[in-house]
Amino acid sequence: MSQTCAPPAPLYLDCDTGVDDALALAYLLASPEIDLVGVGTVHGNVDAPQGATNTLDLLALAGRDDVPVAVGAHDPLAGSYDGGVPHVHGRNGVGDVVLPASGRSPAAGTAVDLLLRLSHEHAGRLRVVAVGPLTNLALALRADPTLTKRVVDVTVMGGAALHPGNVTPVGEANIANDPEAAAEVLSADWDVTLVPLDVTMAHLLEETDRKTLLEAGTTLAPWLGEVLDLYFGFHVPTFGRRCSALHDPLAAAVAVGGVTPTLAPRVPVVVDTTDGPGRGQTVCDLRGRYAGYPDVPGARTRVVLATDAPLTPQLLERLLTL
Ligand code: BDR
Ligand code: CA
Repeated sequence: MSQTCAPPAPLYLDCDTGVDDALALAYLLASPEIDLVGVGTVHGNVDAPQGATNTLDLLALAGRDDVPVAVGAHDPLAGSYDGGVPHVHGRNGVGDVVLPASGRSPAAGTAVDLLLRLSHEHAGRLRVVAVGPLTNLALALRADPTLTKRVVDVTVMGGAALHPGNVTPVGEANIANDPEAAAEVLSADWDVTLVPLDVTMAHLLEETDRKTLLEAGTTLAPWLGEVLDLYFGFHVPTFGRRCSALHDPLAAAVAVGGVTPTLAPRVPVVVDTTDGPGRGQTVCDLRGRYAGYPDVPGARTRVVLATDAPLTPQLLERLLTL
């Protein structure tokens, strides 16, 4: 009997590149399950134009100058870009490493234009992964609410369900950097898989893994090893050693199917958009815990609380091909 392989699914990535965004980008480039058809950048770890420069440089190192990159929102829906997090991702977002310049410019138009165009070109097939603040996605929904009908699903790295926040006691960076956008995206008429700190803090890259990347005889992987240096230092107070949580690549791996959620109830998720200490919190209704976390009827957001396998070996295996 002959076997037919499903063609790779078209996938749009929205990101604030960013050290772990760079890992997510590389993971997606090395994933035969999907075809990366476009990248939009957003304020967050760095400003959106710098994120685009980083993305273009990383794509060039991977030999993927064919992937369009568009600059997205400079500011959150309410308020202004806060200047990023140079102590986490470096002043340039890639650990203050100077990557070889791609020489390529971002695509004409905004990230919203790119996402909407791709949603028409790949209507009913396009998958979306967002690993930065959700401003571009919210603006795209405002511009064209029918976007939800053309997208298969949305995977978001963001939030904290039962875990503390990382920028406030309850706020995770991607959600807290634009709570209004997150609220709009999580209440839209589409299926969202939320990959929160509850799981991303449990998948770590170690110094031996970084060394493996540094010693790879390929074009992109050794640069990723360099880029990770500063980020590894940032994690010392949290983990007691140089290492890195794998926030964004875990979301990419969940979207691609490389890692499978083993506990991911569909529950109501409300984003706190008030100005109090809860601003940016993802309030997940997990009261079904003692009944085995049944899905709540009508809920469209799956909150990933556990996965089947460690990401690190598979991440390394894929990155070492680039
Ligand atoms: C998220 O915030 C950013 O700093 C990372 O790139 C990741 O997307 C983790 O909270
Ligand atoms: Ca990110």
